[in-house]
Amino acid sequence: MEKINVSMKVNGKEESLKVEPRTLLIHALREHLEYTGAHIGCSSSHCGACTIDMNGKSVKSCTVFAPQAEGAEILTVEGIGSPDKLHALQEPLLFLFLICNLQ
Ligand code: FES
Repeated sequence: MEKINVSMKVNGKEESLKVEPRTLLIHALREHLEYTGAHIGCSSSHCGACTIDMNGKSVKSCTVFAPQAEGAEILTVEGIGSPDKLHALQEPLLFLFLICNLQ
């Protein structure tokens, strides 16, 4: 299948990739661009593990084809907060990670 170019801004950085038209946005982000903060859970729009911000709206990226994100501004969990000052959404995840790995 012929690949097509898709350009988008991810976490403030211009990104470009070539994908098959049926490539899901979650796969484009994780496997092509290496933004692995969003996860693949159910792949059927139920769990929300793949949620990202696309053009200011919360989107389940397993329900969007990568070409539909052409020209979009994407924000993933990697794009919020910083290692020195975590975002309010990241702090509980770090706490859970620490608890799960101490047991
Ligand atoms: S992977 Fe579960 S909603 Fe997208």
